[in-house]
Amino acid sequence: MPPLPSELAYVPFVSVEHMMGLVHHLGIERVLIDLADEIETDFRRWDLFDKTPRVASHSDVGVIELMPTSDGETYGFKYVNGHPKNTKEGLQTVTAFGLLADVNSGYPKLLSEMTLLTALRTAATSAMAARHLAPEGARTMAMIGNGAQSEFQCLAFKAICGIDTVRLYDIDPAATARCAANLAGRGLTVVPCRSSEESMEGAEIITTCTADKQYATILTDNMVGSGVHINAIGGDCPGKTELHRDILLRSDIFVEYPPQTRIEGEIQQLDGDHPVTELWQVIAGKAEGRRNARQITLFDSVGFAIEDFSALRYVLKAIQGTPFFTRLDMIADPDDPRDLFGMFVRGGPGTNA
Ligand SMILES: NC(=O)c1ccc[n+]([C@@H]2O[C@H](COP(=O)([O-])OP(=O)(O)OC[C@H]3O[C@@H](n4cnc5c(N)ncnc54)[C@H](O)[C@@H]3O)[C@@H](O)[C@H]2O)c1
Repeated sequence: MPPLPSELAYVPFVSVEHMMGLVHHLGIERVLIDLADEIETDFRRWDLFDKTPRVASHSDVGVIELMPTSDGETYGFKYVNGHPKNTKEGLQTVTAFGLLADVNSGYPKLLSEMTLLTALRTAATSAMAARHLAPEGARTMAMIGNGAQSEFQCLAFKAICGIDTVRLYDIDPAATARCAANLAGRGLTVVPCRSSEESMEGAEIITTCTADKQYATILTDNMVGSGVHINAIGGDCPGKTELHRDILLRSDIFVEYPPQTRIEGEIQQLDGDHPVTELWQVIAGKAEGRRNARQITLFDSVGFAIEDFSALRYVLKAIQGTPFFTRLDMIADPDDPRDLFGMFVRGGPGTNA
């Protein structure tokens, strides 16, 4: 008989179908709220983590990235791509999967889809940041770029920040129509708009989430009034930004991890020593967030490995006792740890004796 896999050989695997089942089972707004809390908890213990800018492999049409981190007990990484031209070919701009492992043994503890989980964690992170930076009592958000991330963003701002109205704009009216239809009946007033200027009328929060592999100018300086909070998500690669530089010069800028954001974020347009505040310091009470009603706050989000780590840990806890995972025979784990070859031979043909 070929050897049976050991208990440690099996790694819980959350497929796309399982992730959808889990989020429906728990409720998407509950998941977004819990993810925001989970991520905020890890931002409070920021110092504990191994941090490095993500490892990016660029091509003319996109980027493939690895995003690793560890808190000393658990190691995690995400594989993620960004290919703005993909939607024209019927493919997604962003796809991802990720893994958690035990630092003590190095054995994996979880393998999960992360395309959906990235949309959830990005939305939860954006709304968590806005909880600290957006003007008091904000109720209306402009949502510019109505692609894959957009509904998740709108629902997170509703559940976590109390937004009740979203004003949608996309250069592709079909994307706006889809986003509006998907949000119908979810407790938000949804206003499709014909220009980004129109989408900003009365908005206290502006989210930009467009995909374009270039220095784009989704917002110009004259479009941004005092007192707003800008949640800029789409500029997340070298050579890819969304905001006019003048907006940055009028804003107080908050970032995840400066060594990564200076390469990838809106602030790649500024001098390397332009002052920015790390979001974790605001959360930990070490730096000020919003100081007054006239200040423009900008969360220059690029997405950082700790957010994915928190999200994966949340999923690992959430699947316990549920049917929303399978066990993959993923790690060769022979009885005699040095007899890997013997295990291989026993697994071959003619070994039924
Ligand atoms: N910061 C983060 O943590 C994070 C996480 C996930 C995705 N992203 C980035 O967010 C962006 C959007 O991701 P997605 O998955 O929603 O992409 P997507 O391709 O599904 O949607 C992007 C939308 O932007 C629209 N668009 C492009 N140019 C525009 C313009 N000038 N004005 C208005 N709309 C415009 C497109 O028509 C499309 O509908 C990508 O650049 C992605 O890399 C960032």
